[in-house]
Amino acid sequence: MNSADCTKNPLIGEITTAQHPIAENAPPRLELVNITKRYNALLANDYISLKVGVGEIHAVLGENGAGKSTLMKIIYGAATADEGEIIWNGRSVSIESPAAARRIGIGMVYQHFSLFETLTVAENIALGLEGKFELAALSARVIEVSEKYGLPLDPKRTVHSLSVGERQRVEIVRCLLQNPALLILDEPTSVLRSALHRYTVFYKK
Ligand SMILES: Nc1ncnc2c1ncn2[C@@H]1O[C@H](COP(=O)(O)OP(=O)(O)OP(=O)(O)O)[C@@H](O)[C@H]1O
Ligand SMILES: [Mg+2]
Repeated sequence: MNSADCTKNPLIGEITTAQHPIAENAPPRLELVNITKRYNALLANDYISLKVGVGEIHAVLGENGAGKSTLMKIIYGAATADEGEIIWNGRSVSIESPAAARRIGIGMVYQHFSLFETLTVAENIALGLEGKFELAALSARVIEVSEKYGLPLDPKRTVHSLSVGERQRVEIVRCLLQNPALLILDEPTSVLRSALHRYTVFYKK
C-alpha cells in the first residue's frame, strides 16, 4: 500500500464539518508521515503519508492484503511502524498501545468481532471500557448514544441472540461511548452481505 491509495471524500467531509465548526488554523487532527511497516520481506505499508483534518471523513481503499488494517493498527497503537511519524493535533506522538491511543482520543472498531456470546450487550460494553461502571447507568448511556447515532441497541439482550448487524452495532457503540476525537472503522460491515461494505473510514469531530 502507498499514499496514492488514500482517497478523501470531500463531500462527506463538508457535511461533517458543517455539523462541527472548526477553529481557524487548527492543525490536522492526524498526520501520518512516511509510515512504513515490514513483516520480514513483506512491505505492508510503503511510506504512507496522510492528513486527516478535523471534521473530515476519509476512506482508505485497497484490495485484500493491501495493508489497510496494518495502517489502522499502527494509528491505534496495536502495531508499530518501522519508520515514519504520527502527528496528533500538531504534536509528534508515539502511540505504544491501544490504551494509549484511547487516552489521546483515538477509537477503533476492528474488522472482526471481539464479543462474549453469553454476556449481555451492556456487560460486553463494560468489559471494553476502562474503569468501573454501574451497569444501570452504563445501560442508560448505551441507549442514549445508540439512539443518537441511529444504531439502536437493547443493553439487556444477550449477544448470542443478536444478528450479525446488531453485534457490529455493539462494537461501534462501545467505541462511540468513549467519545473519540478520531474513530477508525476497519471494514466494520465486512461481516454483512452488502454490496457497499468494503471500506475503511476515519471520522473525526
Ligand atoms: N502480523 C502479521 N505478520 C505477518 N504478515 C502480516 C501480519 N499482518 C498482516 N500481514 C500481511 O501484511 C499484508 C497487509 O495485511 P493487512 O491485513 O494490513 O491488509 P488489508 O488491506 O487490511 O487486507 P483485507 O482487505 O484482507 O483486510 C498482507 O500481506 C498480510 O498477510
Ligand atoms: Mg483489513
